Amino acid sequence: MQTKSIFVGTIIGALTCCLSFCSKKNTSTATANSATEPVLPATAYNYSNVSFPAHIAASLALNDNTPAGNVITDAGATLGRVLFYDKKLSANNTISCSSCHRPEQAFDDSATLSKGFAGGLTARNSMTLLNLRFYKSGKMFWDERAPSLESQVLQPIQNSTEMGMTMAALETKLAGLNYYPPLFEKAFGSTGIDSTKIARALSQFLRSMVTYQSKYDKVKQGQANFTPDEAQGEQLFLTAGAVTCAGCHAPPMFLTSEPAAPFALRDVNDRGIANEDRFKSGSLRNIAVRSKLFHNGSIANLQAMLGGATPPIPNHTVLPQDAPKLLAFLQTLTDQTLQTDPKFSNPFK
Ligand code: HEC
Ligand code: HEC
Repeated sequence: MQTKSIFVGTIIGALTCCLSFCSKKNTSTATANSATEPVLPATAYNYSNVSFPAHIAASLALNDNTPAGNVITDAGATLGRVLFYDKKLSANNTISCSSCHRPEQAFDDSATLSKGFAGGLTARNSMTLLNLRFYKSGKMFWDERAPSLESQVLQPIQNSTEMGMTMAALETKLAGLNYYPPLFEKAFGSTGIDSTKIARALSQFLRSMVTYQSKYDKVKQGQANFTPDEAQGEQLFLTAGAVTCAGCHAPPMFLTSEPAAPFALRDVNDRGIANEDRFKSGSLRNIAVRSKLFHNGSIANLQAMLGGATPPIPNHTVLPQDAPKLLAFLQTLTDQTLQTDPKFSNPFK
């Protein structure tokens, strides 16, 4: 019995050694082609089975916009990650989704308007891609013109300013790159490439971007305490004003797909949803690492907004003595892991 387990142990040891040797070899081969080929782990990262803390899980149960036909799988999100960072999605191979949705900016851009593949500028400010799956209606863009994430993700690819492709041209292009057919096979069971699968994979990757490891989350789980300023900031966020901040940016993900009141930063050039001076607001989580806020990017950052932007923004003007407290509270919503976790990082380097 003992001899047998030593023998089995030796075999396992030898196998592990061989496996780690092989995977090391794979990695270094791939690194040699770093600019053009993605470097992926031997075993896919876990996207499908993340255990969220109770307060996040409860919100997900109520608000999740994942369609029954496109539940996150590890292979699907892995393909989505490669597509998201691949400049080949643009007509001249210069722009990827991540060019305008940068990990270090909470998957938003730091520019007021973003530059497309030929240098042209987008009509609106870019948006964060964090916690998209909690937007219950599933509607996407500042004016909610895309009915679902699956329909949204194909639009930048075909937009004449952003990426300048047609879906037919992209399908042919991807089929001609050696790394895509095996990734599509792992994700969807066959090497065939079509726009439905591209949309599904990108959506799976984006829906996996959930922030749940901020100070705010630790406090909600009893693992940390707010400072007095942070605690007062939370109270102000939840209770101050006729329509509270939380009325439109509902915790725990700090968004709601049904705004409590028609609202927009006044803008004569852009009247948003149904031309009614209404706009979507994405999740306020990680807002402290973002810059160029609101649909036209005209507010430099959180400090500028709370410091009394001129002209004042309706519903967003706060008393001078409250501003530092709200700022302290909003800073607790930052989850740094989204920009450090390799599963969300650029596989092309
Ligand atoms: C050239 C810059 C640019 C590129 C490239 C780009 N986006 Fe965007 N993205 C934007 C802008 C600007 C908006 C807001 C546009 C609007 O509302 O009219 C946006 C909005 C979005 C939204 C809506 C988020 C929400 O909460 O409603 C999603 C999702 C998104 N982009 C995903 C992607 C994906 C996936 C890709 C790659 C296939 C991509 N983007 C490529 C600039 C870009
Ligand atoms: C009546 C609903 C409503 C209330 C109340 C409200 N907001 Fe907003 N908020 C929005 C909408 C809608 C937007 C996007 C508007 C736009 O871009 O024109 C927004 C945008 C923001 C942004 C910029 C987000 C981005 O992605 O660029 C921040 C930050 C913000 N709100 C914080 C707050 C704070 C703090 C309060 C309380 C003092 C508050 N909001 C009150 C609806 C509201």
